[in-house]
This record gives sequence, C-alpha cells and structure tokens, in this order.
Amino acid sequence: MIKFEESTVLITGGTNNIGLEFVKQLDEIGAKIIVTGRNLSELEEAKKKHPRIHTIYCDLSNNRDVENLNNEINQNFPSLNVIINNGSQLGIIDLENPSLNLKKINEEITTNLIAPIQIVYQLIPLLKSANSAAIVNITAGMELLSFGTAPIYSATKAGFRGYTAALRTQLEQTEIKVFEVIPPDLNSNYQSNLTSHINPKINADVSKLVSLTIEGINYGVPVIKPQLFNVLKIDKSLAMVL
Ligand SMILES: NC(=O)c1ccc[n+]([C@@H]2O[C@H](COP(=O)([O-])OP(=O)(O)OC[C@H]3O[C@@H](n4cnc5c(N)ncnc54)[C@H](OP(=O)(O)O)[C@@H]3O)[C@@H](O)[C@H]2O)c1
Repeated sequence: MIKFEESTVLITGGTNNIGLEFVKQLDEIGAKIIVTGRNLSELEEAKKKHPRIHTIYCDLSNNRDVENLNNEINQNFPSLNVIINNGSQLGIIDLENPSLNLKKINEEITTNLIAPIQIVYQLIPLLKSANSAAIVNITAGMELLSFGTAPIYSATKAGFRGYTAALRTQLEQTEIKVFEVIPPDLNSNYQSNLTSHINPKINADVSKLVSLTIEGINYGVPVIKPQLFNVLKIDKSLAMVL
C-alpha cells in the first residue's frame, strides 16, 4: 500500500494538464515531489505555484538528459518510491508525406517509450530499497491507440501498454506495484492537436481523473480506467478484475 503522504514521487512532463494536476494533488497530500520538464519557464511556474516541489530539467527525447535525471535522483533523492511516467507527445503525421521529418518521429518514440523504459530500468534498485513502491505508467485507450492521424503516438502507446504488463509480471515477487492508467479523452492539448473531435460525450475533467487515479492506486487496482472506476464506486473490487 502506497502512503503518498510519506512518498517521494517523480513525475515526468509534469508542468501541464494531467502531470501538473498530479503535482497539485500529491503536494496537497504531503508527498515530496520531483517534477521534470523540457521548458524552464514552465518549471519555474510550477515551482512558484507549489514551492515545496523540486524541479529538474529533462528533455525526455535526449538520452543524456535522461541519464542526468537518473543520476541526480540516485544522488539526491534516495527515498524515491513512486515514478509517474506521464510525459508524452502526440504528432499529427501523414505517412504518405514524401518529406517526413524522421528526426521528429524518433523524438516522439524516444519521449513516449524509450525514455520511460530507461528511467524505470535505472531507478528500479532505488524502488527496491523502499518499503513500498509504485510505477505508474500513463498509456491511452483504444480510441487513441488506433488513431489514424497520430500513427507514431498510437504505436508508442500500444508498446507502452505491452511493456507495462510485462514489467508487472517481472516485478510480481517484489514490493514494487506496477499501475497502468488509461485516461479517457480529456479536453487538453491532445485534443487540440487532433484533427477531429473524438467523442464530445466523454470529455472528462483532469482533476477528477487524477483524484480517481490516486484512489485507484490506494485501492491497488493494476489497470486504472478512471471512467470505469467512477462507475464502479459502489464496489471497487470489481475494478480489479475488469
Ligand atoms: N489528454 C488526453 O486526452 C489523454 C488521453 C489519453 C492519454 N493521455 C496521456 O496522459 C498523459 C498526459 O497528457 P496531457 O493531456 O496532460 O498532455 P500534455 O498537456 O501535452 O502534457 C504532456 C507533458 O509532456 C511533456 N513533454 C512532451 N514531450 C516532452 C519531452 N520530450 N521531454 C519532456 N517533457 C515532454 C509536455 O511538455 P511541453 O509543454 O514541453 O510539451 C507536457 O508537460 C500523456 O502520457 C498522454 O499520452 C492523455
């Protein structure tokens, strides 16, 4: 069982929307928070709003930044016990475009898939030394996994889902719990990136999504689908098997 009030939590890409809401709610609970981002002014802004947090510059698409992040955490935050892999990008890409920017594609794959895998790999020893620990991977539901205009995002999130399930199996005998969060489509940067609105009926509120996710983690639900979890309020144990 994760006690967030006694936890040290790393949140990647935590200066906007869902990531920033995790910062807000976990700060209120009393967690020690490390937030990463690739935009210094946004990191400063987050620190102004939440003075207790620690900020670290890290462009997830840059291998050296990710290595530095891991070194800094190992040196300065040995009490780390929760990683929230939130940072991600969604590119609208036309695969028939003869002059596709392959560098951009690599950046998206590295940010969404390779960086979180490296972060987890390098920080597992720290998590193992904690009494209880969690890895929380934010993936995406089917409506985004098969989203035609965002093929690289779809591929990385499908890969991230597979990786998360395998990670859970490999860490089964440890105290590290692996959670997957599948957000519904929110009214955030992602939707403004998309060419068409997916489903206006399922616009959800970021604050509710994050509070339900925290509740899901407390309850030990391995795959958290906040919408479903909300519906199952009466008997949350059902959410464990769905
Ligand atoms: N919103 C939705 O409807 C939805 C649905 C399904 C899944 N999700 C998932 O939920 C998570 C959060 O989504 P969101 O809606 O909060 O998205 P968002 O507003 O775009 O936030 C994503 C964060 O990741 C950061 N980021 C992007 N590329 C980065 C890089 N190379 N290095 C460091 N940080 C980087 C962004 O920073 P910058 O400001 O510098 O870009 C931003 O802070 C993502 O994993 C997303 O895939 C969201």
